[in-house]
Amino acid sequence: MSDKPFLTDIKTLRERARKHMELGAVTEGYRADRETVIKVLNEALATEIVCVLRYRRHYFMASGINAESVAAEFLQHSNDEQGHADEIADRIVQLGGEPNFNPEGLLTRSHAEYVEGTGLKDMITEDLVAERIAIDSYREIVQYLGNDDPTTRRMMEGILAVEEEHADDMMNLLQDFGN
Ligand SMILES: [Fe+2]
Ligand SMILES: [Fe+2]
Repeated sequence: MSDKPFLTDIKTLRERARKHMELGAVTEGYRADRETVIKVLNEALATEIVCVLRYRRHYFMASGINAESVAAEFLQHSNDEQGHADEIADRIVQLGGEPNFNPEGLLTRSHAEYVEGTGLKDMITEDLVAERIAIDSYREIVQYLGNDDPTTRRMMEGILAVEEEHADDMMNLLQDFGN
């Protein structure tokens, strides 16, 4: 037998579960600062929405010799970001918060920027910059959450991994342009 005591005795665990039932998935053992987590997640949500829109714009504006494969990549990324936005919104609701989809202030809440870009290469560059911003801010969120909210942390780790793939995709496209 290990010296490490098992968390809480079953009786206490069962009693605690019956208190504050209205909080649903958020139990007494939830260690993170819920308000802050919801706020930070709403910033991540805004970042994802801005990325959906930017990639969407780039998808429709992509033209030129290399455009077809690049446009396909833009569309794929736009859809990935929409998936991330949905995951984050879902988690915000689980935590008892409200996902902020208000277009007003969207760019202020978002970490990444919305840059339209003038040509294909310019668009790819701006997308790479945005991904790199998301990567850094999501890594910080993961570190902030630590073991206080493992579910949100795991979700953000999953999203972070995809943003890293996105950045890598953009860098490879940029290299095709001879950079
Ligand atoms: Fe994303
Ligand atoms: Fe991304």
